[in-house]
Amino acid sequence: MMKNRAKWVHLTDPHMVPEGERLFGLDPAARLAACIGHINAHHGDAGACVLSGDLADRGDAASYERLRRLLDELVVPWRLTVGNHDDRVSVRAVFPTAFAAGQDFAQSFEDNPAGALILLDSLDPGHYGGRLCPDRLAWLDARLAGLGDRPAYLFLHHPPCAIGIPSLDAMALANSDDLFRVISGRGNVRHLFVGHVHRPIGGSWRGLPFTAVASINHQVPLDMSTPAPVPHCHEAPAYGVVLLSPDGVVVHHQAFDAP
Ligand SMILES: [Fe+2]
Repeated sequence: MMKNRAKWVHLTDPHMVPEGERLFGLDPAARLAACIGHINAHHGDAGACVLSGDLADRGDAASYERLRRLLDELVVPWRLTVGNHDDRVSVRAVFPTAFAAGQDFAQSFEDNPAGALILLDSLDPGHYGGRLCPDRLAWLDARLAGLGDRPAYLFLHHPPCAIGIPSLDAMALANSDDLFRVISGRGNVRHLFVGHVHRPIGGSWRGLPFTAVASINHQVPLDMSTPAPVPHCHEAPAYGVVLLSPDGVVVHHQAFDAP
């Protein structure tokens, strides 16, 4: 199928579990299979699909192998990074290309006529919240510098700002000031795409637009008072369909029938 390089798919937080297990009463593998079937049927022309972390719920090898088998069915070229539920070593064993050459982190870069697609690894092992260490930020800065004035689009697991849901705001990106310093120093990032929040959200952070999409599995309710733990619910799953143009970015939240 002819690919549209200016159309991308964003899916996040599949929280895969080993065969025979369920998570919050749901089957993450069946849900991801339904999602992939929907993408193939309706958006198979997309030029890229990004998974922005929490690939497996407990970071185990069996779940990553299961994820890999499901992704083999996706007709859109995919790439992925990690979230706080992931184990970087186990991810690397199954998805070595998620790590750019010479990189210890699940960060990668794809040049594209519509703009550069950049995946950042915000996993901070042992913490629910995220962090981008100096090595990861230096890698980003070098990629942005190499693009000059051409647009860049960033995908990372953790949102850089509070979203008004206290249980999640306690586990956002810890050093967003450092990320902002890099981004504002180059001026070519057009949009941030995040996971982690298990909700469809749009907004802006210090003038930079961002989008979060729902999880493929369970969701977080719009609960603006519970401090902890993170509440869960069975609102509908969805994935993002991203359209890029010289004028800007449009993100559609595409629902699919989930088992
Ligand atoms: Fe998640």
